Amino acid sequence: MKYLITGAAGFIGHSTAENLLAKGHTVVGIDNLNDYYEVSLKESRLALLTPNENFSFVKLDLADREGMAELFAKEQFDIVIHLAAQAGVRYSIENPFAYADSNLIGHLAVLEGCRHNKVKHLVYASSSSVYGLNTKMPFATTDSVDHPVSLYAATKKANELMSHTYSHLYQVPTSGLRFFTVYGPWGRPDMALFKFTKAILNGEPIDIYNNGNMARDFTYIDDIVEGIVRVADVIPEPNSDWNPEQGSPKDSSAPYRTYNIGNGSPVKLMDFVTAIEKAIGVEAIKNFMPMQPGDVHQTWADTQSLEEVTGHKPQVSVEHGVQQFVDWYRAYYKI
Ligand SMILES: NC(=O)c1ccc[n+]([C@@H]2O[C@H](COP(=O)([O-])OP(=O)(O)OC[C@H]3O[C@@H](n4cnc5c(N)ncnc54)[C@H](O)[C@@H]3O)[C@@H](O)[C@H]2O)c1
Repeated sequence: MKYLITGAAGFIGHSTAENLLAKGHTVVGIDNLNDYYEVSLKESRLALLTPNENFSFVKLDLADREGMAELFAKEQFDIVIHLAAQAGVRYSIENPFAYADSNLIGHLAVLEGCRHNKVKHLVYASSSSVYGLNTKMPFATTDSVDHPVSLYAATKKANELMSHTYSHLYQVPTSGLRFFTVYGPWGRPDMALFKFTKAILNGEPIDIYNNGNMARDFTYIDDIVEGIVRVADVIPEPNSDWNPEQGSPKDSSAPYRTYNIGNGSPVKLMDFVTAIEKAIGVEAIKNFMPMQPGDVHQTWADTQSLEEVTGHKPQVSVEHGVQQFVDWYRAYYKI
C-alpha cells in the first residue's frame, strides 16, 4: 500500500511512518519543518526514515494548494494519514492565524486531494480538546462537542465537520482520531513531560498549573501508533441505520467515523510529576501556578469503539512510558 503521512517530521508522524515502513509499505512523508519548536529535532526524526528506500520526503506546506494538488495527482495514494497541524492549546491564544492556515486551509487541501484522487481512506488527527466544557466522564464520541475552549480545539472540531461534508458529498471515507495527551521518546518540546524533564535536569523549577489539580489521560506513543495503523485498515462504511434525529455524533449515513484514542485511565498531574521525578532520580522544584486560559481540568477517554473495531486497547503505564522518555531525552541531549 502507498501511504501519505502529513507531518512526517513530527512526533506522531515519524513514529507512524516507522511502523508502516517496518511492515513493508511505501510511505511518502510531507512536512513544512516550521520552527514552532526546534527544527533540528524534526530533522533528527526524519533522519530515522530517509535511509529506508520505501520512504520519500517532500518539504511542503499543507496550505500550498497547487503543491498539494500536484503531489496527490502524481502519487495516487491508497491511504492518507493526516497528522500535520499547528498543535498546542496555549500557542493558539497568541498566534490564532497559524491555526487557520495549517488546520483549516491545510485540512481542506488534504480533503480536496482525497476527493479528486479516490483515496481509499483518510485518517486524520483530531484531539481530546474538542470535549471543551464537557464534564461527563469518560469523554465519549457519542457526546456532543459544541463548546470548545481554545481556538486549537475549535479547528480540530472544524476538521471533523469538514471531513463529514466530504464523506457525505464525495464518499471520501474518513476516520477522525481524538488523541489524548500523547507522550514518549521523540516527544514535543512544548508539552509538559519534555518541559518538566528539561527543567528538572537543569535544576530549574517546573510550572504546575491549577496548583496541580488536573488530570490527563496520557497515551504512550506506541499505543497511539498501533491505534492509527489499525484504524487505517478499517475503512468506514455508511451506517444505513443512522438518522439525524436519533443518530450518534460518532458516525453517519456517510462513510465517516470518529474515535477516541486514549489509555482510558486519567492520571493526576502530581502523580505524573512523581513518575518523572522517579525516572530522573531527582525531586522537582515546584512552582504552583493558576489555571491557564484554554486548558481543561481533566480528560478521560472512553475507548470502547476503538477497541471494538481494532481489537487494540492502549496498555502502557505512565511509569514505564515516562522512563522510556527520560532515557531517550538523556541519550539524545547527552545529559
Ligand atoms: N501530541 C499530542 O498529545 C496530541 C494530542 C491531540 C492531538 N494531536 C494532533 O496530532 C497531530 C500530530 O501531533 P504531534 O504531537 O506529532 O505534533 P508535531 O508538531 O510534532 O507534528 C506536526 C508536524 O506537522 C508539521 N506541520 C505543521 N503545520 C504544517 C503545515 N502547514 N504544512 C506542513 N507541515 C506542517 C510540523 O512541522 C510538525 O513536524 C497534530 O494534528 C496534533 O494536533 C496531538
